[in-house]
Amino acid sequence: MPSFPKPRIPDAIVPPPLRKPAKPGTSGAPKGQAPSDLKTAPPERPSHGDKLLDRGKEAPIDALGWVDQRMAASGFLTGMLYRKVPKGTNWFYTLGSATLFAFVVQAVTGVFLAMYYTPSATQAYASIAHINNDVPLGQFVHGMHKWGSSVMVILIFLHMGRTFFFGAYKYPRELNWVIGVVLLILTMTMAFTGYLLPFDQRSFWASIVGININGTGPVVGPYLSDFLRAGPEFGATTLSRFYAIHMLLVPGAIIALIGAHMYLVVKLGTTAPPWVKAERPKGASPLAQLDAGVNGNGNGRVNGHRTNGTPVSDEGGNGASA
Ligand code: HEM
Repeated sequence: MPSFPKPRIPDAIVPPPLRKPAKPGTSGAPKGQAPSDLKTAPPERPSHGDKLLDRGKEAPIDALGWVDQRMAASGFLTGMLYRKVPKGTNWFYTLGSATLFAFVVQAVTGVFLAMYYTPSATQAYASIAHINNDVPLGQFVHGMHKWGSSVMVILIFLHMGRTFFFGAYKYPRELNWVIGVVLLILTMTMAFTGYLLPFDQRSFWASIVGININGTGPVVGPYLSDFLRAGPEFGATTLSRFYAIHMLLVPGAIIALIGAHMYLVVKLGTTAPPWVKAERPKGASPLAQLDAGVNGNGNGRVNGHRTNGTPVSDEGGNGASA
């Protein structure tokens, strides 16, 4: 007779194992008394609900593991989040992250404003009034976006000041400085183009002044002001142009450049403050000391490599603190 495979019995309907009492005298219990393990209640089997709950708790970890197996991103993330920072790192080093946070706030609040804003010369003003007066939390979100733009401009200047005064623009971080300068121009462009969008008297006239100032620039000035106005006259098309620059063109460029900026920060590490002296590793030759001065982070190393590209093995002794 061919035998069929037996179906698996679900755990929930399998009874707990039968427990045979030990022979009197063999389990250490005195004669006439029940063995000690029968006096306590047997451990409870987890119910079906408990098992489901446990599985639910592990689901996010399983999902992340599934993604990580396909993207191998955990190595990069660990390197980024647990990287060493030089001795002397202080609160001024948080200004870059604060600028990044301000940008994220602008992006999120901007998305919600875009759901209600109408970029038309006849309806823009009314749509902003509608956001402020009728939309739930509209005034709050609009206020966050409006004040957040000033916060971002202030933070980006403070961050630039920090990198300048700490000499972080020097070799090998010149490219990151240049990317930063472009980010600064783009951030100012965001603030300028956003100012026109409420289309009230103040934003209207301020934008005309701003465009005229741009027009006074050498060689490219007149072309730039024509481009911003979307023609020789300031009018309805100017608003659409500012809206497209504010909503699509510049944020896209900022996101791409922040990506490049962050890549270089992680790749090169950050600069030690100028008052922190480079430590000479024990037994290092004077040449290594020279090397330590080159990249300015006080340890002569860039992500586990000397600045000349040779790998170093003892990351612990580089004078860096976690
Ligand atoms: C959207 C604008 C920007 C964001 C989100 C941003 C973000 C950051 C972050 C998070 C860091 C690492 C931590 C720190 O040093 O604060 C950094 C480093 C740096 N940033 Fe920016 N940044 C921006 C604009 C700028 C500007 C305008 C400049 C200069 C013109 C600049 C130049 C640099 C340099 C040179 C470093 C390396 C600092 C070092 O090695 O110590 N960044 N940036």
